Amino acid sequence: KNIAIIMGGYSSEYEISLKSGQVVYDTLDKTKYNAYRVHIFKDKWVFVNDMDEEFPIDKNDFSVLVNETRINFDCVFNAIHGSPGEDGFMQGYFELLEIPHTSCNMYQAALTFNKRDCLSALKPYGIKTAESYFVNLGDSINEDAIVNKVGLPCFVKANRAGSSFGITKVYKKEELQNALDVAFKEDDEVIIESFLDGIEVSVGVINYKGETIVLPITEIVSDNDFFDYKAKYLGQSQEITPARIDEDKAEQVRTLAKKVYEVLKLKGFSRSEYIFKNGEPHLLEVNTVPGLTAASILPQQATKAGISMSELFENAIESSLN
Ligand code: DAL
Ligand code: MG
Repeated sequence: KNIAIIMGGYSSEYEISLKSGQVVYDTLDKTKYNAYRVHIFKDKWVFVNDMDEEFPIDKNDFSVLVNETRINFDCVFNAIHGSPGEDGFMQGYFELLEIPHTSCNMYQAALTFNKRDCLSALKPYGIKTAESYFVNLGDSINEDAIVNKVGLPCFVKANRAGSSFGITKVYKKEELQNALDVAFKEDDEVIIESFLDGIEVSVGVINYKGETIVLPITEIVSDNDFFDYKAKYLGQSQEITPARIDEDKAEQVRTLAKKVYEVLKLKGFSRSEYIFKNGEPHLLEVNTVPGLTAASILPQQATKAGISMSELFENAIESSLN
């Protein structure tokens, strides 16, 4: 089968996506799959061969002509974090072309990538979240209203972004404007959330051989002020799997993460983050194209569960074909 591994993308996360995609490419069993690296950038969509030669993708049917042979893909392995791979655009495109892909569907991707809308969609199910305040670019900013609603410290986040791009922890009202400017660089929508002081955990949920399974829970201990970009990618954090929480708490958050997966009708990979406050997990966000390098959280969790990375990736492909 011909598998296109799409990577890159249009957001600040493209470098991380290239790493995830390369790991998927290196890991997939080449005796089972013909794997193709496909770079998706604003100015070019290209198949990149092992000599780093580039061949343009025909966007009409997502095929590629290589030395006079037209290649069509049986499945797309989506390794694009952020737009357009995690927010529904690529999903919708492949769904129109009827090419199976490894992510959740278009609507689910668009919903989960929008922090505000995802959290409000889950509220009626009794899922707890931080207090929040929402602003669009161009809105007049009432700093007192923000602070009254969410308190201090608070988190200012780009509403639709990943890898902590555009996130600032704000301690003083005077720091708000600068934090908003940082967030507005990533998105024209910003969500400001109250600071939840407690243990942070990350929970992977996948569809594995036809069943929804919850992977071992990871506890996140950041050396920095919060789990920011540097903590995530420059090793300035500890990710402890399984999390050092008691079994009651573990069961509570496993049940919650599975509920989120099922209520939202997700498919493929998902990794959601929670902070325990007053003994109860509060949902921060849901990622549907989580990092896939060997150092990334979800592959580590899978490994702990006895699922190797090649099994994990193969399962994603096979599940999408069923
Ligand atoms: N957005 C990054 C890649 C993650 O969730 O792992
Ligand atoms: Mg994220």
